[in-house]
Amino acid sequence: MNRMTAPSTLTLTRPDDWHLHLRDGAALAAVLPHTARQFARAVVMPNLRPPVSTVALALAYRARILAARPTEGPGADFEPLMTLYLTDNTPPDEIRLAREAGIVGLKLYPAGATTHSDAGVTDLRKTWRTLDAMQREGLPLLVHGEVTDPAVDLFDREAVFIDRELIPLRRDFPSLKIVFEHITTREGAQYVLGAEGPIGATVTPQHLLYNRNAIFSGGLQPHFYCLPVLKAEVHRQALVEAATSGSPKFFLGTDSAPHAAHLKEHAGGHAGCYTAFSALELYAEVFEAAGALEHLEGFASFHGADFYSLPRNSGTVTLRREAWTLPESLPFGEAALKPLRGGETLRWQLLDGSRTMAVGLPSDSPLTAA
Ligand code: DOR
Ligand code: ZN
Repeated sequence: MNRMTAPSTLTLTRPDDWHLHLRDGAALAAVLPHTARQFARAVVMPNLRPPVSTVALALAYRARILAARPTEGPGADFEPLMTLYLTDNTPPDEIRLAREAGIVGLKLYPAGATTHSDAGVTDLRKTWRTLDAMQREGLPLLVHGEVTDPAVDLFDREAVFIDRELIPLRRDFPSLKIVFEHITTREGAQYVLGAEGPIGATVTPQHLLYNRNAIFSGGLQPHFYCLPVLKAEVHRQALVEAATSGSPKFFLGTDSAPHAAHLKEHAGGHAGCYTAFSALELYAEVFEAAGALEHLEGFASFHGADFYSLPRNSGTVTLRREAWTLPESLPFGEAALKPLRGGETLRWQLLDGSRTMAVGLPSDSPLTAA
């Protein structure tokens, strides 16, 4: 790519979102088209109530997602990639069934770390036999990497998790594939970059675009509140450097987490940024500002698929450099949903008509038949 003249369009192999919250029911119906028009596939988080903790629950949830897909046009071929919620009691036998059913990973929520994590893991040692089965079956562990110890400062919980939990875990299970989800710190980025063995990390648009000042500027800003919480500027810069470096260890995962606006804009407001509406455009802005647009395609379309040993997508999407203003609010069942950057102008716009087909699923995948 010629760095002297800024390109006015950008065509990428169709990207995937490797970390997404789709919810259920009316909320699912409201948000799914936003993701499906941009991404060929998404790894769907299992933190529903009750949690998606068995293969049977995951396949039923997958069917509800498919039923909510657009019936034609962009997004009609969107493929949800399902995960299971790891609990203290997930039976090791469920792991082989999960792999055979096309489940792509198990999500570790330390109990109490975030939204709907009360069924999460209270002590990793309780899951050892299950982790052992995952290592054997090659099923990745997707990690919400924060300790829940109330004595640890909220802003330090990711760095402390690395030392207390992640390093011992990887010593005990050196071949277990691990995705360190939504990393937010320099420590997180450096750990993944320097680590040997099968570990990758997703990075969200909000952690690349904003530091923690955003939460507290001009009054309290609940729409910038997510978990793990935004960090100081040095951390944001380290994340940008890692994500835009071209390293295959880092890939796109929005952690887009819709909550009704009135539940964010009150005391005890819910954690989560809604970025799915314009995710690709937000990432393009980050990569352009870093002078690294040539690395966007790897981050968005190749590294995640390679890590999960899934085929890359064929087909393309095109972004045009054309300013447009995001709506302030979107319909969300009976409520409203406020997208991150709502009411503000973005520099890049996804061209809807640009997509060509072809989602990367192996022809023998149980999911292709579903
Ligand atoms: O901000 C967040 N929202 N972080 C999470 O880990 C969960 C998510 C949600 O489900 O709302
Ligand atoms: Zn999440």
